[in-house]
Amino acid sequence: MTEEIEDGVRGHYAGDGLMDRLVAALVEMGHDPDDPPAEAVSLLDQMHIRGAAATTELHDAVGIGPDDSVLDVGCGIGGPARALAARLGCPVTGLDLTPGFCACARELNYLFGVEDSGGDCRGQRP
Ligand SMILES: C[S@@+](CC[C@H](N)C(=O)[O-])C[C@H]1O[C@@H](n2cnc3c(N)ncnc32)[C@H](O)[C@@H]1O
Repeated sequence: MTEEIEDGVRGHYAGDGLMDRLVAALVEMGHDPDDPPAEAVSLLDQMHIRGAAATTELHDAVGIGPDDSVLDVGCGIGGPARALAARLGCPVTGLDLTPGFCACARELNYLFGVEDSGGDCRGQRP
């Protein structure tokens, strides 16, 4: 992948200020943003069609087990990775090109206490 294409991906997704927007949405939903229920966050952190339900179906379809290590390429803000780690207890590493998404993923990982349990989002290439 050329740098031009990588920049195109980053420009398309951007993702600046995502955590602020997510906090605002949680407050609007009536939740404490410092201690939000995982179910509420899962309505916001799954950036694909059909959300958390599709994530669960995908986990089951590929037959991932607790002894597997998973690399989530294009993890976004880490919703599917955290869901997988929480559901099966397997280590998950997230990788994403878009710095704003990685920053938001790290904050959410910290919020849910999974930053050292395989829910880490390692960010873009140096
Ligand atoms: C539609 S979002 C999905 C995020 C996440 N998988 C989810 O379902 O919530 C696609 C993500 O893929 C990332 N991405 C696209 N191409 C990539 C690549 N070649 N390497 C790493 N990340 C990539 C984007 O930055 C974006 O965060």
